[in-house]
Amino acid sequence: MIPDLTARAVGARELMDEPDADQAMLDRTYALFPLVNAVVSGWRGVYRRDIRPLARRRRLRVLDIGAGGGDLTRLIARRLHRDGCDAQVTGLDVDPRAVRWASAQDGPPGLRWRCASTSDLVAEGEVFDLVISNHVLHHLTPGLLSDVLSDSLRLRAPGGAVLHGDIARSRTAYALFAAATLPLARTVLAGSFIRPDGLTSIRRSFTADELAVAAGDGWSVEQRMPSRLLLRARDLHPEKSDA
Ligand SMILES: C[S@@+](CC[C@H](N)C(=O)[O-])C[C@H]1O[C@@H](n2cnc3c(N)ncnc32)[C@H](O)[C@@H]1O
Repeated sequence: MIPDLTARAVGARELMDEPDADQAMLDRTYALFPLVNAVVSGWRGVYRRDIRPLARRRRLRVLDIGAGGGDLTRLIARRLHRDGCDAQVTGLDVDPRAVRWASAQDGPPGLRWRCASTSDLVAEGEVFDLVISNHVLHHLTPGLLSDVLSDSLRLRAPGGAVLHGDIARSRTAYALFAAATLPLARTVLAGSFIRPDGLTSIRRSFTADELAVAAGDGWSVEQRMPSRLLLRARDLHPEKSDA
C-alpha cells in the first residue's frame, strides 16, 4: 500500500542514520549503493553533460558532500581519470562509519576522504570547482539544509558548479521502488537497509516545487527521469561553454 505522500514525512528516520545501526547491515548497505545509484541516480548523464565539459576547461577539484560509501565519489573520479582529466576528488561525510568504509575501498588516483562537515571545510578556506551530492538533501533538517546549501556556495571556486541530486517524491517513485525491491528483499538486498531506507527516503524527499522554495534564490531545480531532481546553483559569472 502506498502511504500518504502529499507532504514530506520529515519525522521518518532512516535506519542507517541511527547511531547504533547494525554494522554488518550498514556495510552491506554501502556495498549496495553502486547498484542502487546505477539504476536510479542518473549521474552518468550528469557527468557527460555537466562535469566532463567543466573538467576539459580546468583542473577540477571536486567535493562530494555526504559521500556515504563513496560510490558517486569513485564514479566521478574514475570517469575523470579515464577521460584524462586532471582532478582531485574529495568524499566528505559527517559519519565516521561511512568514511571508514569508503576509504577502505579501491579507487583511482586523486581520491581523498574527509570526516567533517561542510562548515569545517568553509572554516578551513577550502574551495572546489565542482560541489556535488547525491541522496543527501532529503536527510537534512531545514536548518542543516540551509547550512549545506549556503556552505556549498561558499565552497565553490569562481566559475565552478554546484549540483545536488536527489529523489523526487511521488506515488510513482514509491510504487516502482517498492515493486522492484520486493522480490530482491530476501536475496540481493538481504541484510541491508536498502529497501526500508529507500522507501523512507522517498517519503522524506521533496517535490520539485518544494525544493525550489526550500533552496530559495540562487538555485534552479531540474526535474529528471526517473523521479529525479537536480538542484543547481545559478552561475554568478557564467563561462562560455565548450561542451
Ligand atoms: C543515503 S546516504 C548517500 C550516500 C551517497 N551520497 C550515495 O549516493 O551513495 C546519505 C549520506 O549523507 C550523510 N550526511 C547526512 N547529513 C550530512 C551532512 N550534514 N554533511 C555531510 N554528510 C551528511 C550521511 O552520513 C550519509 O552517509
